[in-house]
Amino acid sequence: MDEVLTCRDLQVRYGSQQILRGVSFSVAPGEILGIVGQSGSGKSTLLRALMGLLEPTASVTGEVFVAGRRWTGLGEKELRPLRGTEMGLIFQDAGASFCPIRTVGAQILESVAAHRREGREEVRRQALDLFQKLRFQDGQRVWNSYPFQLSGGMNQRLAIAAAMLLHPKVLLADEPTSALDVMGQKQVMEELAQLRKACGSAVILVTHDLRLAAALAENILVLREGAVVEYGPADRVLQAPQAEYTRAMLAAVPRIRRD
Ligand SMILES: Nc1ncnc2c1ncn2[C@@H]1O[C@H](COP(=O)(O)OP(=O)(O)OP(=O)(O)O)[C@@H](O)[C@H]1O
Ligand SMILES: [Mg+2]
Repeated sequence: MDEVLTCRDLQVRYGSQQILRGVSFSVAPGEILGIVGQSGSGKSTLLRALMGLLEPTASVTGEVFVAGRRWTGLGEKELRPLRGTEMGLIFQDAGASFCPIRTVGAQILESVAAHRREGREEVRRQALDLFQKLRFQDGQRVWNSYPFQLSGGMNQRLAIAAAMLLHPKVLLADEPTSALDVMGQKQVMEELAQLRKACGSAVILVTHDLRLAAALAENILVLREGAVVEYGPADRVLQAPQAEYTRAMLAAVPRIRRD
C-alpha cells in the first residue's frame, strides 16, 4: 500500500443523528490534503474519528489505515503509543491545550518523553533548533515562558511545533490558523509546509477557507453535512468545481488579488 492514510466509508452517528455519511479518501506520504466545509459539517468529528478519539456514545463504522496498519478496532492501549508519532492531531483551539501553570519547555519535554527515550538536554536542543527553523524569535525565552506570557497566536504556533517534534507520518491540523491574524496565518501555513519538507510528513489541513486550503494543498475534499461533495486536485477544484456547493463557497469568499 502506497498511501500513508486510507479512510474507507467512515460513518459516525450519535443516536439517530448521522454526522458522517460514508467518507472515503486517501493521503500519500508527504501530501497535503485540505478538508473544507462550513461550521457543523463534521470536520472535527472526522479528525477525531480518524484518531480513534470519539467519545463512546458515538457509533463508528468504516475503516482507517495508517502506514499500513489498521487503526479501526484497536483498543486504547494499542492506540496510545501510536497517537502523536504515527498520526498526530493539533486540536482546534490548540493554544488552549497547554497547561497554564507550567512552562512551555516542561510540557514539551513531557510530551516527547511519553514517546521517546532521548535525554532532556537533547529534546531541548531539538526543540530550540525547530523554533529557529520556524523563525520563532528568542526561542530560549519561549522555552522558559508560561503560556499566559505568550500571545494566543504564539501558543497556537507552539502547539504545532510540539506536534511536529514527534515527526508524525501524518499530522491532522484542525483550523490551525483560527486564532491568528493574516500574518500569523501565513506563518503557520509556511510552518506546515516546512514540516512536510523536513520530515516528509503528510498533513491534513482542516479549514472553512477553501482558498487558503487550495493555496497549500495538493488535493481538496469538501464536506457538506457529513458527506463528501467534492474531492480532487486543488487546481481542478478551484478552476472547475464539480459541485454546486463548492461553486457557492468560492463565490462567497472575497477574492484577494495578487499583484
Ligand atoms: N459529542 C457529540 N454528540 C452529539 N453531536 C455531536 C457531538 N459532537 C459533534 N456533534 C455534532 O456533529 C456535527 C458536526 O460537528 P463538528 O464539530 O464535527 O463540525 P465542524 O465541521 O468541525 O464545525 P466547526 O467548523 O464549527 O468547527 C454538529 O452538528 C455537532 O453538533
Ligand atoms: Mg471543528
